[in-house]
Amino acid sequence: MKICLASSELAPLAKTGGLADVVASLSSFLDGKGHDIRVLLPLYSSIETSAMDITPVRFMQDLAMQMGPHRVRYSIDTARLPGGTLTIYLLRCPELYNRPGIYTSDWDEHLRFILLSRAAIEMCQNMGFAPDIFHCHDWHTSLVPMYLKTRYAWDRLFENTRSVLTIHNIGYQGIFSANILDDVGIQDQVDRLHQEDLGKGMINFLKTGLLYADVLTTVSPNYAHEIRGAEYGMGLQEILQQRGDTLVGILNGVDYREWNPADDPLIPHPYDSRRLAGKKKNKLALMQELGLDCSDDMPLIGMVTRLTGQKGIDLVQQLVPAMMGHRRFAMAVLGSGESRYEQFFQWLQNHYRDRVCFYRGFSNRLAHWVEAGSDMFLMPSLFEPCGLNQMYSLRYGTVPIVRRTGGLADSVQLFDPHSGQGTGIVFNDYNVPALGWALNYAFDLYQDKSTWRKLVRNGMAMDFSWERQGQVYIDLFRHITR
Ligand code: GLC
Repeated sequence: MKICLASSELAPLAKTGGLADVVASLSSFLDGKGHDIRVLLPLYSSIETSAMDITPVRFMQDLAMQMGPHRVRYSIDTARLPGGTLTIYLLRCPELYNRPGIYTSDWDEHLRFILLSRAAIEMCQNMGFAPDIFHCHDWHTSLVPMYLKTRYAWDRLFENTRSVLTIHNIGYQGIFSANILDDVGIQDQVDRLHQEDLGKGMINFLKTGLLYADVLTTVSPNYAHEIRGAEYGMGLQEILQQRGDTLVGILNGVDYREWNPADDPLIPHPYDSRRLAGKKKNKLALMQELGLDCSDDMPLIGMVTRLTGQKGIDLVQQLVPAMMGHRRFAMAVLGSGESRYEQFFQWLQNHYRDRVCFYRGFSNRLAHWVEAGSDMFLMPSLFEPCGLNQMYSLRYGTVPIVRRTGGLADSVQLFDPHSGQGTGIVFNDYNVPALGWALNYAFDLYQDKSTWRKLVRNGMAMDFSWERQGQVYIDLFRHITR
């Protein structure tokens, strides 16, 4: 199949979260299966290009894009995705992408992603590439399905193209004032936009995608179910109900070439489920590195996360300080985000120097090491479309403690000591007593070494590889292009 993917993030070049990992590993998987994949990513100035061999595509240099009154010039280059064999396309437009971060709150944020969406379509035109599937991800590229049915509908090249929109996070919708209407550039077809929103003076990019994509997917079956309701739908539940027959949940896969404790160059001691001694060594080395109290009878909880409301940090904030007083455990936290949460972890570290380490920011090496060295991994999310770290944790024998929501519910089963079944600790309600129950249960189980080992091994035996999950996408793509 011929597949065009457009995304605002792609690991390892441009990443704020799991979106980057998923788009990179899914496209590499599809490429590996012999499909013809064209991925387009903005060439942000934050991308480290010194070690990359970037070649301008001769016939796609210095092109013009008119977006309402705004005219920008852009070029398309090509390069190998570092760490893999996939060839990718980079959208070079310094005027829009030379900014401190991937996302901004600048006045022209909409132009940055309208350009990405339209440039992806025009790239296909310039290459004479007729995609069977146009795969869009989150709000940044979710105008593509609408463009294919309006502005570019004249082009026979897209006659058989089916658009797929994958929702990685419905919490971000790309909502702009209707003042940008001209910039969207569908001229006399504005009646194709959501009229009620326009009446209220806004344009919602994700919602537009939900209306026009031929198929909608999200990153876990349970989240596909949850977002049809008011609690998780973030205002889009009605449209999702209407389009219910085209909404499917496909659990994300894990790239086990990158996340394999037996062969991970980023951790000091390799191990697997038969040789767990290496895991203990990683823990002690990690605690030493982070300046934590080194003892094995004290469980170490890891967290690697964006520090946003979604991730359930409020619960941690309300519970952990008190719990520190009466239970023995240590924490290694890696993340950045909202300053109130950063300040909280900073405060916690200052109060419990030998038991809490907070690393503000992101380090891939440390992320791997925290997965390898921790005994437990905490994800008390308010909502979680899929979540990847709990799946990494399972493979690393690090028991996930998660809330039963989104993809966490699909990938972790509550451990039952009597039957010996289950892979982690799962709690239901988003409140402090529920999280308290989960942590206490985990700490108690941890004291019983043989039971704990059973739980660890159950998790390590799980398989969330792309080999499986990617096949589900291929089957879906085949089905809708037939
Ligand atoms: C977003 C979601 C996360 C998901 C990831 C990749 O970051 O918050 O749950 O795993 O996208 O799909």
